[in-house]
Amino acid sequence: MMDNLMQNKEALHKQYKDSSALEIRRLFHKKYSTNKTDYDSWIIENIPFCKGQHVLDIGCGNGRLWDKGKKWLEDLEELVLADNSEGMVTEISSRFQSYASIKGVIADICSLPFPTQKFDIVIANSMLYHVEKLENALSEVFRVLKPDGTFIATTFSKYGLNSYINDSMMKMGLLPPSQKSSVDFTLEDGGKYLRDVFGDVELRRYDDFLEVSKAEDLADYIFSMTSMRSIPLSAREEIIRYFENKKNDEGIIRIPKIYGMFLCRKMYKISRKYGPKFASEIF
Ligand SMILES: C[S@@+](CC[C@H](N)C(=O)[O-])C[C@H]1O[C@@H](n2cnc3c(N)ncnc32)[C@H](O)[C@@H]1O
Repeated sequence: MMDNLMQNKEALHKQYKDSSALEIRRLFHKKYSTNKTDYDSWIIENIPFCKGQHVLDIGCGNGRLWDKGKKWLEDLEELVLADNSEGMVTEISSRFQSYASIKGVIADICSLPFPTQKFDIVIANSMLYHVEKLENALSEVFRVLKPDGTFIATTFSKYGLNSYINDSMMKMGLLPPSQKSSVDFTLEDGGKYLRDVFGDVELRRYDDFLEVSKAEDLADYIFSMTSMRSIPLSAREEIIRYFENKKNDEGIIRIPKIYGMFLCRKMYKISRKYGPKFASEIF
């Protein structure tokens, strides 16, 4: 079977032992995005928060989303920031230590250490494409959500930045063509997994363009990605030259950035997977 580079345990462990790779990518997006509303602010604006809620952000990384969600930090009853990387949780715990309502927890999405029906909102921001057993992850999220609770799953499109980078690396002969189909949980394909579990699933898209003026920054971004780990560092100069040439031909390196979120409501009645099984709990 083909190695799915986005789900390789050893590579993920290395990549997310701390937040350095995430920070390279965050700064790149901050520097080159053209959409006036940044992606994290857009995510926060689209989540139906209310005062007093219990919220879980699973696979939260270093918790950077909450820089844009600060106004909710006082109003939520409880915010659990969880990740299966110990390094990330250590960072979170010191970063948010002044907030009594925030807890950092080491947890795997496939086996959540929380009681059934605990949370009003569960967020999985840019992480489900790393999960090998998606079915287990979704069933755990469904379990810990309150009835009528909301699950927010964000991801990228098959046709945005990641595919631009994949295609460029393939054109350069630095990646094999088989790598193209290795990601399952995209904006185009994620809905079918979610619809089986949650009754009601809505897709919202976030469209943007990156206008990159420095090829070195794009090379740093590429080397920060789990899915590019097979590319040797010795190819860095070649990659920079490739994008420099593109910039000289086209004036700027313009890359589509297509992200978005699935808003899923936990509705037993219309859940294909859990409707009949859990019906007795609500009727
Ligand atoms: C691409 S980062 C996203 C981090 C953060 N949500 C953000 O958007 O900045 C993916 C995160 O998911 C975490 N992760 C990967 N697999 C996980 C799993 N099975 N359970 C919990 N966290 C996981 C990684 O440690 C990493 O912090």
